[in-house]
Amino acid sequence: MTTNEFKRRRRQLMRMMEPSSIAILPAAPVAVRNRDVEYPYRPDSDFYYLTGFAEPEAVAVLIPERKHAEYILFCRERDQEKEMWDGRRAGQEGAVEIYGADDSFPIGDLNEILPRMLEQCGRVYYAMGCNLELDKQMSEWINGIRNKARSGINGPLEFIALDHYLHDMRLYKSRSELKAMRTAAKISAKAHKRVMKACRPGIMEWELEAEFMHECATGGARHQAYSPIVGGGENGCVLHYTENKDKLPDGDLLLIDAGCEFDYYASDITRTYPVNGKFSESQRLLYELVLKAQHAAIEKVKPGSHWDDPHQAAIKVITKGLVELGILKGRVPNLIKNEAYKRFYMHRTGHWIGMDVHDVGDYKVDGSWRLLEPGMVLTIEPGLYIPAGSKGVAKKWWDIGIRIEDDVAVTRDGHDILSKDMPKSVQEIEALMGGR
Ligand code: GLY
Ligand code: MN
Ligand code: MN
Repeated sequence: MTTNEFKRRRRQLMRMMEPSSIAILPAAPVAVRNRDVEYPYRPDSDFYYLTGFAEPEAVAVLIPERKHAEYILFCRERDQEKEMWDGRRAGQEGAVEIYGADDSFPIGDLNEILPRMLEQCGRVYYAMGCNLELDKQMSEWINGIRNKARSGINGPLEFIALDHYLHDMRLYKSRSELKAMRTAAKISAKAHKRVMKACRPGIMEWELEAEFMHECATGGARHQAYSPIVGGGENGCVLHYTENKDKLPDGDLLLIDAGCEFDYYASDITRTYPVNGKFSESQRLLYELVLKAQHAAIEKVKPGSHWDDPHQAAIKVITKGLVELGILKGRVPNLIKNEAYKRFYMHRTGHWIGMDVHDVGDYKVDGSWRLLEPGMVLTIEPGLYIPAGSKGVAKKWWDIGIRIEDDVAVTRDGHDILSKDMPKSVQEIEALMGGR
């Protein structure tokens, strides 16, 4: 992402802000893994979206129309010794020269400088509850200002949810965001193909996870957008199975839900296929049903559809199919009304995707499902899960867990499947795996 893109976003936000206002946005804190080992640092998506700044211990401040500086970045100072141990820092000079801040101060000076900025403003755009440490400081600063009332200093009267504005902006992806998402999906699709080729009876789930990660990392995406789910047979029926610890037996299906992050943008792809490369009759019947539901749902991804249309299309196909296969009994409209399908298809058909895998943005506006518009990106991921022991369901369907998931962008005249490089028809899968 270019510095101009971040600048454009800050300008867009500042245009929406009311007069006499200030926006304050903290960086994510570092998370400790154990003792003195930290998790790899991942900036908060809102913070990074506006700043492009990936260091911890920083606070971004926007004050539209302020003469001296509209964008102020508080961040760590340069420190030769610390940088030698822990990595480079931009410092105040870098904040201005590299990251386009109009002014920058050491993070240690926040307590002294920010209250003075707050005093001048009537409204504060701030996401309360996201950073408890800054929430506490904010209360102290506001109380401090209130105590000065008799000296004629009033300070802010209004708090406005900054996240609400940012999340609406983030829902509409720009050209460069779509490019990053397409790259993420391409790398993930290539990695999925590698896993498909490596899959064979007797291999461990974690070996396939390793194949996936290897391809992503060498493709330029070192981080995953979420923990990969690699589950065979009954493990495929556990929606968020991440232990990935079992051996894959001949005759089972493998469900792999994995996606890398590229330039802070997520991909989220699921494929399900036979460990031995050849679908059994019952696996194929259920697989083709889920695939049909996925096609029907993807067809609904276009401007003018509303958020729930793809889900409704998927549950219709799935319910009808389950009745035809004798897994559900009754009339299709009644079964849909009573949500009978939920026993085997218990999640929704998708979610927004962007910088976060389950991305931000409202699904309803004024109580109604949101209309799809160009630039929005969502996943389409119907599934069916029939664990062993499912009462009233013939044994031949047991231990079958299937999900098929793609990332789909809404375009002006329909949609574009970002993850289309990854095959999903029975014929394509069997051909690629060569039946082993
Ligand atoms: N990988 C998580 C999901 O599909 O929502
Ligand atoms: Mn998903
Ligand atoms: Mn997924």
